[in-house]
Amino acid sequence: MTNKRKTLLSGVKPTGKPHIGNYFGAMKQFVDLQGDYGRTLIFIADYHALNNVQNREEMNNNIYEIALDYLAIGLDPKNVTIFKQSDIPQHSELAVILNSITTMSYLMRAHAYKDAQARNKEISVGTFDYPMLMAADILMYDADVVPVGQDQKQHIEITRDIAEKFNRIFGETFKIPEPLILENVATVPGTDGKKMSKSYNNTIGLFAEDEEIEKAVMSIVTDSKAPGDTKDPEKDNIFALHKLFSKEQLSDLEKRYKEGGISYKESKEILIENIKKIIKPLREKRKELEKDKEYVLDILREGGDEMRARAEKKMQEVRDKIGTKLYE
Ligand code: AMP
Ligand code: TRP
Repeated sequence: MTNKRKTLLSGVKPTGKPHIGNYFGAMKQFVDLQGDYGRTLIFIADYHALNNVQNREEMNNNIYEIALDYLAIGLDPKNVTIFKQSDIPQHSELAVILNSITTMSYLMRAHAYKDAQARNKEISVGTFDYPMLMAADILMYDADVVPVGQDQKQHIEITRDIAEKFNRIFGETFKIPEPLILENVATVPGTDGKKMSKSYNNTIGLFAEDEEIEKAVMSIVTDSKAPGDTKDPEKDNIFALHKLFSKEQLSDLEKRYKEGGISYKESKEILIENIKKIIKPLREKRKELEKDKEYVLDILREGGDEMRARAEKKMQEVRDKIGTKLYE
C-alpha cells in the first residue's frame, strides 16, 4: 500500500514549552512527512495532560501555545488536520470500552506506570489508564503510522495488543498501527546527558531566545579534559547535540575531538551558533502567528468538527460490534 492511502497520526501533551527532544524525536517528523500520507492527523492530547496540569488558565494557555508551536514548526493546515482531543468525546468513550477488555495486571507492566511507582508517587487513575486513552486516540482513525520518540514505543505496542484483542473478541474492527521511531533521534539527550525531559530540568527550548540557548549550552556537562587533550566524541554531551545541529561540520568536529584540536568551550560556541540558526526562523514564525489568535483557534475548531464526525462514524461501528447499539 502506498503512503498516499495511509493515515499518519500523532499527538503531544500540552504540558508547557516543547524542547528540542520533542522536536527531533517526534514533531519534526510530523512536518517532514505531512505531504506524504493520504491523511495526516496531529492532535493536542489535553486529557492526557490533565493528569499533570490541573489549573484552568494554565491548561487554556498550554493548549493554545501548542497549537502555535505546531504551526510555527511548519505544519500546514492544508496538509494536516490539527485538533484537540477533548473536542472529540468519542476518544474517552472508546477508552472506556477498551478498559473493559484490559486487565489491571497488563497495565501494571507499563514502563510509565512502573517508573511512577518507583518514584513513589501517588498515581492518578488517569495516569494508570493513560495507555488506554492513547490507544483510543490511535485506533479511532485507523492510523497506520504513529511517529513518536522511543519513550512512547511501549504505548504503541499496548495499542497493537488491545486492537488485536478487540478484533479477536468482537470481529475485525481496528487497524493495527506501526510506530515510526527514527533511530538517531529516538532519545535526544539533555544538557546533563540523560534523556532530555522537562522533569529533569535539562532541556533546550525549541523556541528559546538567543540568551537562553547560550545559557543552556554553556551548562552542558562535560568531563575535565584540557583543550589539547584527545576527546572521545561518542562520550561527549556537546557532540551528541552536534549530531543534530552541526551536520555539515560533523566529520571535521569529530576529527578535531580525536586529535585534541578543540576545547569543550569552542565546541559549545560552535553549537550555540548552529542552534541559533535553526531556532531563529521557528521563533520568528511563532511570533508572527501570535498576532492572530483567532486564526489559530479557527484551525482547532475546524479540525475538531471534522474529526468529531469521523470519530462518530467509527463509534457507530464499535457500538454495533459490542452490541450496545439497538437502533439508528
Ligand atoms: P510529550 O511532551 O511527552 O507529549 O512528548 C512529545 C513527543 O516527543 C513524544 O513522541 C515523545 O516520545 C517525544 N520526546 C520527548 N522527549 C524526547 C527526547 N528526549 N528524545 C526524543 N523524543 C522525545
Ligand atoms: N503519550 C504521548 C506522549 O507523551 C502523547 C500522545 C497521546 C500520543 N496520545 C497519542 C502520541 C497518540 C501519539 C499517538 O508524548
